[in-house]
Amino acid sequence: MVAGVGSRLPSRCVTNDDLARTLDTSDEWIRARTGIARRYVADAGTDTSDLAAGAAERALASARLSPAGVDTVIVATTTPDRPCPATAPTVAAKLGLGPVAAFDVSAVCSGFLYALATASGLIASGAAEHVVVIGAETFSRILDPADRSTSVIFGDGAGAVVLRAGTPDEPGALGPLLLGSDGTGVDLITVPAGGPGRPDAAGADTGSAGRYFTMQGKKVFWLAVQRMGECAATVLGRAGWRVEDVDWLVSHQANHRITARLADEIGIPPERSVSNIAEVGNTAAASIPLALDHAHARRLFRPGDRLLLTAFGGGLTWGAAALTWPAIDPV
Ligand code: UT7
Repeated sequence: MVAGVGSRLPSRCVTNDDLARTLDTSDEWIRARTGIARRYVADAGTDTSDLAAGAAERALASARLSPAGVDTVIVATTTPDRPCPATAPTVAAKLGLGPVAAFDVSAVCSGFLYALATASGLIASGAAEHVVVIGAETFSRILDPADRSTSVIFGDGAGAVVLRAGTPDEPGALGPLLLGSDGTGVDLITVPAGGPGRPDAAGADTGSAGRYFTMQGKKVFWLAVQRMGECAATVLGRAGWRVEDVDWLVSHQANHRITARLADEIGIPPERSVSNIAEVGNTAAASIPLALDHAHARRLFRPGDRLLLTAFGGGLTWGAAALTWPAIDPV
């Protein structure tokens, strides 16, 4: 069950007007086509592990759990501090957790749900007791500053939850989870270069553009609506919930038009669909835990509220989960 939640944003806020100074874009276009007003960008001295550790500290405080109680750290990220090793051990060290299990999960914008499923399985098997599950990104590091179709959308940030064993009828209980993928869509959302098979610009075969994140936005838009809609419906069925039983839809904050369309297709009224995209943009793996923490800070959720989580991202990957909100106070 979820026992705590927290988040962390970098201090530098970048507005749409800031971006329009160097890109052929406008505040009007970005707001209308994506719902985004501003996003936060990490400065050169801030790594994904710094944001992740900041979010985890707050989640631990919210769970009233001391670092000594943590045995596992999972970081979902598309933008690790380094290609090797994983970022989670650095996060554990920054938190002073000692020799805990620590590893990353890579599923782009679905990464947090993949990490949540992994944590839940570790707890169910008895391999872990208290897991810090983090979604963290410095996505700005992989954006092409000249590509207006991606650089207006993504932002940096981190969100985290603390997961521990619980009973299904307790507020905080994590219900059925469903994950999926379709690798035939690998080229729709990708950083093509940088791996051993295709070295980056220094390795010469791709040119510098290959180092940057690319997305075929139009195609991805409809796939996101379709896949999130399908897996959210399956999870609802497995949880034994009717659509009317859902208090809040918390979907990946990819684009406000995607979340609106998705809520409409599932049958959830717009005011029951959590949204913080205007404030933070699309933060990829950090999106869902950031949305949870921001909604919690606004006291939107009551203990026992039924939440339907769903995400879609590169891979292609997707997932959904049922969650009842725990009885925790905003920190
Ligand atoms: O997080 C993982 C999952 N991600 C998603 O699900 C994202 C899905 N896709 C999207 O959110 C949207 O497709 C985008 C926001 C990326 C693009 O919005 P769109 O409504 O699909 O725009 P479009 O790509 O069809 O472009 C429409 C026009 C084009 O101009 P022409 O060809 O009609 O003259 C683009 O060149 O808008 C132009 N455009 C822009 N104009 C001003 C594209 N980006 C911009 C921009 N500012 N930033």
